[in-house]
Amino acid sequence: MNKYLKNNEWNIVEEGFDPKNHKASESIFSLGNGHMGQRANFEERYTGKSLQGNYVAGIYYPDKTRVGWWKNGYPEYFAKVLNSPNWIGIDVQINHDYLDLAKCKTENFRRVLNMKEGYLQRSFVAVMANGNKVKVEVIRFLNMAQPETGAIKYSITPLNFNGEISFTPFIDGDVKNEDANYNEKFWNILETETIDFEGYLLSQTKKLDFSVGFGMKCQVEINGEPFTEAPTHIKGPKYVGNIIKLNAKEGDSVVLYKYGAVLSSLNHPASELLKLTKQKLVETAKTGFETLFEAHKNKWSEIWSHSDIQIQGDIEAQQGIRFNIFHLNQTYTGEDERLNIGPKGFTGEKYGGSTYWDTEAYCIPFFISTAPSKVTRNLLIYRYKHLQKAIENAQKLGFTNGAALYPMVTMNGEECHNEWEITFEEIHRNGAIAFAIFNYIRHTGDDNYLAEYGLEVLIGISRFWSQRVNYSEAKKQYVMLGVTGPNEYENNVNNNWYTSTIAKWCMEYTLQCIESIKKQNFTKYSEIVTKTKFNEATEPKKWKDICDKFYFPYDSDQKIFLQQEGYLDKEQVLTSQLDPAQRPINQHWSWDHILRSCFIKQADVLQGIYLFEENYDLETIKRHFDFYESRTVHESSLSPCVHSILAARIGDMPKAYKLYLRTSRLDIDDYNHEVHEGLHITSMAGTWMSIVEGFGGKRVLHGKLHLNPLIPEKWDEYSFKILFKGVDILVTVNKQQVNLTAKNHPATINIYGNDIDLKPDKTENIALRTKIES
Ligand code: BGC
Repeated sequence: MNKYLKNNEWNIVEEGFDPKNHKASESIFSLGNGHMGQRANFEERYTGKSLQGNYVAGIYYPDKTRVGWWKNGYPEYFAKVLNSPNWIGIDVQINHDYLDLAKCKTENFRRVLNMKEGYLQRSFVAVMANGNKVKVEVIRFLNMAQPETGAIKYSITPLNFNGEISFTPFIDGDVKNEDANYNEKFWNILETETIDFEGYLLSQTKKLDFSVGFGMKCQVEINGEPFTEAPTHIKGPKYVGNIIKLNAKEGDSVVLYKYGAVLSSLNHPASELLKLTKQKLVETAKTGFETLFEAHKNKWSEIWSHSDIQIQGDIEAQQGIRFNIFHLNQTYTGEDERLNIGPKGFTGEKYGGSTYWDTEAYCIPFFISTAPSKVTRNLLIYRYKHLQKAIENAQKLGFTNGAALYPMVTMNGEECHNEWEITFEEIHRNGAIAFAIFNYIRHTGDDNYLAEYGLEVLIGISRFWSQRVNYSEAKKQYVMLGVTGPNEYENNVNNNWYTSTIAKWCMEYTLQCIESIKKQNFTKYSEIVTKTKFNEATEPKKWKDICDKFYFPYDSDQKIFLQQEGYLDKEQVLTSQLDPAQRPINQHWSWDHILRSCFIKQADVLQGIYLFEENYDLETIKRHFDFYESRTVHESSLSPCVHSILAARIGDMPKAYKLYLRTSRLDIDDYNHEVHEGLHITSMAGTWMSIVEGFGGKRVLHGKLHLNPLIPEKWDEYSFKILFKGVDILVTVNKQQVNLTAKNHPATINIYGNDIDLKPDKTENIALRTKIES
C-alpha cells in the first residue's frame, strides 16, 4: 500500500513531487474521452522514470505471438493497443536551461485530477540550476464534447528574473510500445509538416495500415496580449515542432495554449486525414480554450448526473467510488460499436488494451444502470459483429455446425490469447456474453434486441456448449472435461461447477428465447432459422437432454457445490493459515505449488451463485460463501467485489465493507504495488456493483427492479441512481430510512419484498432495515 495522495471528495490530489511516485501518478491521473486517452505525462521534458503513453481507441497492432512451445490452435498474434505519437509535448527553456523536474528543485508542487469537471491540473515553482525561479501552472483536458480534440493551457511566470523563455510545442512520432514482443516500432510516419504555430504528422500503423493524423496549433499570450513573432520550425522525419522565443520580465504572465487534434482512419478516409485534422484544429483554436473547456465540463456534468454515487461520513470511500466511476466513463463512452474496454483502459499497456470477459461480466452491469441504453447496446453489437469470427474460432478447435466460441482476448473478434489452458479451456467467457444479452434486455425492456441480434449469438453459443460436453457412460450424465474456470489457479479441470452452470443456463435461456420469438414474430424466427441453419427437430431436443442430465460435482456431507471434480482431494487449508509474507502467492510460489493448492484466485463457484442467486436460499448462499471465501486469495482485481456483494446478501456487513474498500481504493492506494503499469479499469465497475448490488441490494427479478438496502456502519448516508427501463430512480439510504424518487415518470419497484408505486418526482420514504430476512 502506498498512501501518498490526499483524501478529497471530488479530486485526486498529490502534494510535493516525489519522483518515486511519478509512474504511479502517471497512471492514476490519466485522462481519456472514449476516443483517445493518455497517461498523465508531463508536457515539458522529464528525464526521470516515466512511461510515455498516448492511445487512440481501436488502433492496434497484431504483434507476432511469442511463446516457448507452440500448440496447434494458437493465434498468430496478440493485438496491442498502440502507444501513439505524443502530441502533448512542450519543451520549455528558461534562459537556455531545460525545465526538467528530474533536474531542478520544485516547491509547492501540486497535481490535481478534477474528476467533477474532467481535467488535470498541475502547479509548482521550479528553481533552475542557474537560480531562476518560475511559477508554472498547467491545465489539460481531452475534450468530452468533441472527442477528437484536446487542449493544454501552459502558464509560466518568472519570479525573480527578466529573461528569455522558450517553448517548443511538438508532436513526436518516434514512440514505442513497452510491451512489444520483438522490440519493434509499430508506426510508419508518412508525412510531417510545420508552419507558424502549427504542426502535423500523418502516421500509419505497420501491418494493418490504420492511419492517424495528429495536429497541434498554438497561441501565445504575454499578460493577456497575443504574441505573434514568427517561431522557428522544426521538421524531422518523425517530429514536428515550433520554437517560440520571447523575453519576459519578472511577474509577467506568459501563456501557451496548445490545441491537439487526433483523427483516425476508423472515422475518416485515410487520404483526407491531414486536411481534416487541419480543419478540426482551425475550428478548435477559433473556439478558444475557455469555451471548449466549458462545453467539456458540461458534458461531464451530464455524465455525473446519471452515474454519481454520494457517500457521507467516509471521505475515503467517497473518493474511491468517484475515482472508479470517473475512469470508467473516460474509457468508454458508448458512441462506437467497434470499440470496447481493455482491462487497463488508456492508462497502460498490460493486457494489450484488448477485450476480455470483464466487459460483459463487470462493465455492462455498470453501464446498463448508469448510461443511456445505447451504450450497453453498442457493447453487445460489438460481439454480435464478431459472431462469424467466433464460429471460425470454434471451427479451428474442431467444433462444427455454427458453434461459436468467443475469444478470451480480442480486438477484432479473432482470438489473441496464447496459453492453451486459457485460450482453449477458459471457455466460461461464452456464458458471460450470453448472460449480458439477458441482462441488457431485463434492464432496458428492449425485447427487439433478441430477434434482431441476440438470438443468433445465443444459438452459436449453445451449439458450442452442446458439443463441448460429452455423455459419460460411467456417470450416465453429461460432463464437461478439460476446462479452466474463472479461478485461473486451477487448469484443465473436469466439471468446473461455474462453467457447467452457465453452460446449462445458456442452453435453457436460448430454448426459451427461441420459443418466445417463434410465438411473437414468426417471420423473424423463420429468417433466423434459415440464416443459422437451425435444425428445429434435433437441436432443441439435444440441448434439453443435456440440461436434464448435466453433471455437477457436489459434496453431500458439507452440502457444497464443488468448484470442480476432486476439489476436496486437495489439502484443505484456509487463507487465514497462510503466512502473510507468502502473499500474494502468485509472486511467491511456483506455478506447480499454486496449481496443487486449494487456494482460489478469484470468485468461481461464488461467481455462479452471484449470477443465479435467486435459485439458492439464504442458507445455501451462506454455506458456500463461508466455504469459498475462506479459501480465496483475491489475486484478481475482479474478485473482491463479487464476494462483497454476497457478504452483504448474507448480512455480513463488516466483511462486505472490508471487501468493498479493497476494490474501491485498489489503485489510489496501490494495494498491489503495480499501479505504475496502469489502472484496473474493468474491475472498477465491480466497485460500483459492490455499493449498488451489495449495500443497495439491487436485483432485477421477473422484469422488476428490487432493492434491499443496508448501510455500512461507517457511513451516515449514501445515494445512487439506477436507470431502469428508461426511468432514473434515485435511491438515498441513511441510518433511518430509504428515500426513493423516480424522475419524470412513474415506476413500480420492489423494496424489502414489497411493491411500491412511485409517482413522478415524488419521494417515498421507507424505514431502513438492518437485516434482510430471506
Ligand atoms: C483474470 C481474468 C481477467 C483478466 C483481465 C486475469 O487476471 O483472472 O478473469 O479477465 O485478468 O482482467
